[in-house]
Amino acid sequence: MLFSHDVVIVGSGLAGLRAALEVAGRLDTAVISKVYPTRSHSGAAQGGIGAALGNEEPDRWEWHMYDTVKGGDYLTDQDAAEVLARDAPRAVYELEHMGVPFNRRADGTIAQRAFGGHTRDYGQAPVKRAAYAADRTGRVILDSLFGQAVSRGIQVYAEWLMLDLIVRDGRVAGLTAYELATGELHVLRAKAVLLATGGFGRLFETSSNCFTNTGDGAAAAYRAGLPLEDLEFIQFHPTGIRGLGVLISEAARGEGGILRNDLGEPFMARYAPTIKDLAPRDVVARAIAAEIRLGRGIGGGDFVHLDITHLGAERIRERLSDISSFVRIYQGLDTTEQPIPVKPTCHYMMGGLPTDLEGRVLDAEGRAVAGLWAAGECACVSVHGANRLGCNSLLDLVVFGRRAGRAMADQVPGEAFGDLPPDPGQATRERIQALKSRTRGERVSDLRAALQKTMMEDCALFRTEAGLERALGIVDDLESRYRRATIDDPSSRYNTDLIEALEMGNLLALARATLVAARTRTESRGAHFREDFPERNDAQWLKHTLVRQGESGPEISYRPVTVTRFQPRARTY
Ligand code: FUM
Repeated sequence: MLFSHDVVIVGSGLAGLRAALEVAGRLDTAVISKVYPTRSHSGAAQGGIGAALGNEEPDRWEWHMYDTVKGGDYLTDQDAAEVLARDAPRAVYELEHMGVPFNRRADGTIAQRAFGGHTRDYGQAPVKRAAYAADRTGRVILDSLFGQAVSRGIQVYAEWLMLDLIVRDGRVAGLTAYELATGELHVLRAKAVLLATGGFGRLFETSSNCFTNTGDGAAAAYRAGLPLEDLEFIQFHPTGIRGLGVLISEAARGEGGILRNDLGEPFMARYAPTIKDLAPRDVVARAIAAEIRLGRGIGGGDFVHLDITHLGAERIRERLSDISSFVRIYQGLDTTEQPIPVKPTCHYMMGGLPTDLEGRVLDAEGRAVAGLWAAGECACVSVHGANRLGCNSLLDLVVFGRRAGRAMADQVPGEAFGDLPPDPGQATRERIQALKSRTRGERVSDLRAALQKTMMEDCALFRTEAGLERALGIVDDLESRYRRATIDDPSSRYNTDLIEALEMGNLLALARATLVAARTRTESRGAHFREDFPERNDAQWLKHTLVRQGESGPEISYRPVTVTRFQPRARTY
């Protein structure tokens, strides 16, 4: 069927919903989402949202900006970091007014806790900057924003998977989407499409991400010939539950939790003498990996302990109840008495669709792409640089989601619909038919497992030229096997076999682009650590990578980093 709306927002997490609230009532707006909105991955965010409210101790937005820039290993665009840090207090109070039940201090003000890399006085000591609702902050913000969306009557097409952008004469005129419940392919025509489809953490074997995080929006843009920025910067959260990758919030360390090796040593003092366990994630994740490599994992194994037993049962129950229940369910352990077995887990993509500060998607030459906007993890504004700080993600979603929504509300009313091609669903339909028509081939799930294992081995915390080359060779092989792969389920209703096959196409394209970007950047910066180039190299590499699908594979170009207040310096903690 053909649907027509002024604005179509793809993704119903915090970025998509926050943008929708700005345009709803002013423009005919629809949100499409692969899952029912309250199941969006934003709901899995645990520990907090950063803002220099100064409720617990003195704080300033300039310190927040500095921490964000330094945390991003100076790849952060500083105009974006300034917007983020300055706007954060307003954004948090706005959420409070929308009904978000933040934890409170005795005087009634919003409580705040420490988080990795957030400091006072430009790095002197940790500061309590994360506003939180126990360890389910994303959950309560998502529920509140969805409640607002429902009360404003925003049209939601739930369980619709976005497949392709429809681009004509350089203008995005709409998209195609597959309805899970019926198997129908729909065309949505729009004056503006906003992609808020999240990351693609499912590229890795160990991941904190939900199963739906397969980069559908980023991959559609890439297929349409648009560039993706800084894909090589992939965050591994230090503390995923061993064996599963399920997130154990950094809030556990913010509340005073301590990482210990097999000898019981609080080893972070060796790697970040000033802020220890509250160092940024890239530093802590590599420190855990280093301890494991040195044979100091627990029992010589591939994990360490996160000890929160000393916090006491009452504080754990009040502030860390969800993670405690995950540990009880998945490991059979009681966090008030036993340490938590943890190891790094893929958590967040710093890279994505390049945008300006108002969410307009930019092409490789830095020009706005007509009709296309992006916000949230699928976008790269670039406010997180080479390594995002904890509790800056929820903030990014609501700050830049709102800005994109406002800019669309200002710009779109003066615009006409772009022309659709004669058969706008043709390319997508052919892709689906090709997958459904093959009867004898490998199963996609086997190919996906092989891809995730390869990415984990060669493109995770530590990378080398040889490893990245090896991984690219495996991706070549998996791509040709994917072209012959088959799906078993011929049905139209909730055909998860087909959905997974379509997602696999996205993951393969993004894997190749990521590997090429990682191979090209011959330095170490933030989350991108090259063992063969272990130093940061500002002279050559203080620039953003753009990767675009060329005739014969990914093509790389660059754009400069915006430096305003803080000149790059050595990054120590
Ligand atoms: O550790 C956490 O609670 C995650 C927060 C984040 O990714 O910002």
